[in-house]
Amino acid sequence: MASRLGMRAVRLATVAQRSGALRTATRTAAPRAAAAVAAPMMQQARGLKTLNFGGSQEDVIERSDYPQSRYGNIFKDDTLCMLGYGTQGRGQALNLRDNGMPVIVGVRKDGGSWQKAIDDGWVPGTNLFDIDEALSKGTVIMYLLSDAGQMMAWDQVKPHLTPGKTLYVSHGFSVVFKEDTKVIPPTDIDVILCAPKGSGTTVRNLFLEGRGINGSVAVYQDVSGKAQERVEALGIAVGCGYLYNTTFQKETYSDLVGERGVLMGMIAGAFHAQYDVLRAKGHSPSEAFNETVEEATQSLYPLIGANGADWMFAQCSTTAQRGALDWAPRFEEALKPVFEKLYAEVENGNEARRSLDVNSRPDYKESLEKELAAIDQSEIWQAGKTVRQLRPENQ
Ligand SMILES: NC(=O)c1ccc[n+]([C@@H]2O[C@H](COP(=O)([O-])OP(=O)(O)OC[C@H]3O[C@@H](n4cnc5c(N)ncnc54)[C@H](OP(=O)(O)O)[C@@H]3O)[C@@H](O)[C@H]2O)c1
Repeated sequence: MASRLGMRAVRLATVAQRSGALRTATRTAAPRAAAAVAAPMMQQARGLKTLNFGGSQEDVIERSDYPQSRYGNIFKDDTLCMLGYGTQGRGQALNLRDNGMPVIVGVRKDGGSWQKAIDDGWVPGTNLFDIDEALSKGTVIMYLLSDAGQMMAWDQVKPHLTPGKTLYVSHGFSVVFKEDTKVIPPTDIDVILCAPKGSGTTVRNLFLEGRGINGSVAVYQDVSGKAQERVEALGIAVGCGYLYNTTFQKETYSDLVGERGVLMGMIAGAFHAQYDVLRAKGHSPSEAFNETVEEATQSLYPLIGANGADWMFAQCSTTAQRGALDWAPRFEEALKPVFEKLYAEVENGNEARRSLDVNSRPDYKESLEKELAAIDQSEIWQAGKTVRQLRPENQ
């Protein structure tokens, strides 16, 4: 998903460049103005892009805005303290290390992450520490424990967030739902966010391929007057290729809606619903799976990813086009109220509370494994295993 988004961004930039739509913009936000005073030549050299997104103009920050020499200089007096070494912490920490940044990792010694970090070459006592020691050394605290973990470890972290330090997160969840999480940052430090639009594995893999994932950046508190520049610099340093501005709240709400909706929850529900109807009407498991999942993921969704829904329609038979064009509005009408309900549940905090409650339970991992095993054992996904074995690349 993320790589296709990346392709899309590249394509947009290319199209915009060809049409002359790409232009250099003047920044107006106060921190940007301060940066311009401090380093006028650099500001001119940056060439911030404003692109047309379906009729709206938005700023896009890209890697050429922050070459290594620039972000290295911005953080030359800092120690970047990566707390947590899950998929996202690992991807960002390794990219920072490869980018020559002063990064250390902080994880608990009795969890799985400690050994994982050692396996990746982090050295205990040199750049790998337990959480307290890492916190005492870090100046930019990159809080990348799981979202429930952030709530549980907050009392340990908060005393280290003294003036001059920065709190960095990759999801606004803990801060936005602070009434529930109690993650309330001190008011005298910068609080910033860079949320890569994809898993930490994709963050790392795209970096290794010499590309960058899309990311959102936001500033919650700007005490230093440099928070916007620092979050942009850090976003590029952790491996993003393009950065888009947002707020903590918008990033959090859209992320929660997206993963419950089209990205994961809705699509899984739609697969099951269509598969079950086909099976109930006497279609074989292979036929139901091929018409529901395999053709979607192997043929049609990649076409949407490459060039949009109109392109996908254009590549299909006239029979398919007519039917899809007629049925799309009916699905839209049926689904819209569900998405409105979903957004309301995110906005009122119910989704966050449910997530925190369930994910904080001691038996969380066992319950999750049971739920995932039930999906794995269901007929649709068992049929999928056999279908996938027949793909040429799996022969
Ligand atoms: N995954 C994604 O696709 C993605 C994308 C964008 C943003 N993000 C955001 O990035 C952040 C990290 O996500 P993630 O997916 O990397 O999380 P994750 O894989 O669930 O990370 C778990 C990490 O948190 C540590 N941890 C959990 N509870 C803890 C506790 N009570 N005390 C100390 N350490 C604890 C774990 O340590 P142990 O090994 O010791 O248990 C592990 O290092 C989250 O805010 C997430 O929303 C994630």
